[in-house]
Amino acid sequence: MVPVISMPLESTLVGVIMTRELQRNGLALAISNATGACTLTAGPTSSSGLQDIIIQTVDLHRSYRIGRHSVEVLHGIDLTIRRGETVFLCGPSGAGKTTLLYTLAGLERPERGTVRIDGTDLYALPRRGQAQFRNRHIGYVFQNYHLLPELTALENVAVPGAVAGLDTTEAAMRALEWVGLAHRAQHLPAELSGGEQQRAAIARAIVNQPKVLFADEPTGNLDSQNGAAVIALLTRLAQESGMTLVVVTHDLGLATAGDRTLVIRDGTLLADA
Ligand SMILES: Nc1ncnc2c1ncn2[C@@H]1O[C@H](COP(=O)(O)OP(=O)(O)O)[C@@H](O)[C@H]1O
Ligand SMILES: [Mg+2]
Repeated sequence: MVPVISMPLESTLVGVIMTRELQRNGLALAISNATGACTLTAGPTSSSGLQDIIIQTVDLHRSYRIGRHSVEVLHGIDLTIRRGETVFLCGPSGAGKTTLLYTLAGLERPERGTVRIDGTDLYALPRRGQAQFRNRHIGYVFQNYHLLPELTALENVAVPGAVAGLDTTEAAMRALEWVGLAHRAQHLPAELSGGEQQRAAIARAIVNQPKVLFADEPTGNLDSQNGAAVIALLTRLAQESGMTLVVVTHDLGLATAGDRTLVIRDGTLLADA
């Protein structure tokens, strides 16, 4: 459905503000003026320009309190990622990769700065709104899988749907098929290999078909063959679905499989590699 908004000509300023808001949300406007009224017709935007930015951070600062001291871990991160991009984030241990990923995904509020995901200022939303936004639009693959040990692979993958109040058993089965794990649907995590647990965690992250998928060292606990297979799986899923993918890795050999490789050191983003 194409929304149409009519307004008197003198509301030009309102129109300009609305135009900006709609563009932030990925909509373009056609403005016609034939009948003395100004009609704004909103439709999907073209594949260029501002509206193609899906992740944008401005001056992101994040600190941890250790005893009585506050230690800053992210020192003002400015980052822009385009819709559909696959980006690898590299850096030494302790550089702030996980902290940055958590902050981008709405899991850790920065002390300063903003995170916009597809036009939405994530931390400006109320807590409940943030959780809903994450559930609908953001997938997250944790370094240690974080599968619930007492649930089968299928039940684990169905959890995000259940949180949204939906019965997503069918979608969960489909997601297991996407990652090549349908034959392990009824297995408990303990009955799966590391690579299979990682694939179940990926299926859970994509079951709600998020706009953005974050994966934190998804190959960290895998041998090189399984690691390469997981990276190939993630990049294929992203390509096929148009999903934006941000992967943390400290394996530089794997980090060239995307559109861009970012390097973070001591909480500062270095130039794109
Ligand atoms: N919850 C926490 N409390 C205190 N310090 C933390 C916490 N999480 C991370 N840090 C510190 O922040 C820095 C960056 O951590 P992290 O983002 O996990 O780095 P990376 O993922 O690049 O290894 C490290 O020095 C780490 O010790
Ligand atoms: Mg980490």
